[in-house]
Amino acid sequence: MSSVLYLIFLGAPGAGKGTQVERLAAASGLPHVSTGNLFRENLQQRTELGLLAESIMNAGDLVPDTVTIDMVRDRLARPDCAGGALLDGFPRNLIQADAMAEMAGAAAATLQAVFLNLDDTECMNRITGRRQCRDCGLICHVRFAPPQVDGVCDQCGGELYRRDDDNPATVERRILAYYRETAPLLGYYHALRKFLTVEADGAPDQVAVRLREALAGLVEFAPE
Ligand code: AP5
Repeated sequence: MSSVLYLIFLGAPGAGKGTQVERLAAASGLPHVSTGNLFRENLQQRTELGLLAESIMNAGDLVPDTVTIDMVRDRLARPDCAGGALLDGFPRNLIQADAMAEMAGAAAATLQAVFLNLDDTECMNRITGRRQCRDCGLICHVRFAPPQVDGVCDQCGGELYRRDDDNPATVERRILAYYRETAPLLGYYHALRKFLTVEADGAPDQVAVRLREALAGLVEFAPE
């Protein structure tokens, strides 16, 4: 098996991809590559890409494939991804999945998809209480993972904010976009025998244990 590993995290909005991938990155040393975070960073810096993505994200739709694929290709070419990456939010449709396969081929990388399975009602509960740090990106939740001080990041003291696309109307559209565009990837990776499912209900620690068990033999974990 190749020593380069691209792990692709699939799951509906709010299933816990960002939360789990961040932990896995810390435990494995593989970088967390989140297309949503990359777009939000570009938006914060008011780049051309950020301005293009802004209205699309706020509408709950997908940013065009060409710019998204180019952005991921650039990110995976950086030195910290030489041993692989944990991909959160990419690929998100069949065109992006084909581009991902081509990138994996060029890097002689092993591809594996991991589906975090959670029902829509629970996804909605998680999303509506989410808060994220403007500075370090830490994700928390007003009820399920509350910060010690209201509105202040436990990790860096930065400001916690509610994402613009986390209002109920946009979340509804994001969930529809997920079923229309991304859910077909479950079958795509199943057919390639590169698919595993992790149940994403329960506390973050419980999900992390399940994920670790599912990835045993595939990912090297630092001793705890
Ligand atoms: P993106 O940022 O990728 O959003 P998403 O896929 O909708 O996923 P979320 O970030 O909402 O949820 P998550 O699964 O990461 O959950 P989290 O861990 O935060 O994309 C945003 C937008 O960018 C898209 O709509 C699109 O416009 C654009 N975009 C991105 N990628 C694109 C692409 N490839 N192509 C085109 N466009 C693209 O958890 C949610 C909450 O639940 C948190 O508050 C957390 O604290 C809490 N929580 C997590 N786990 C648990 C648990 N086990 N128990 C209780 N609470 C929990």
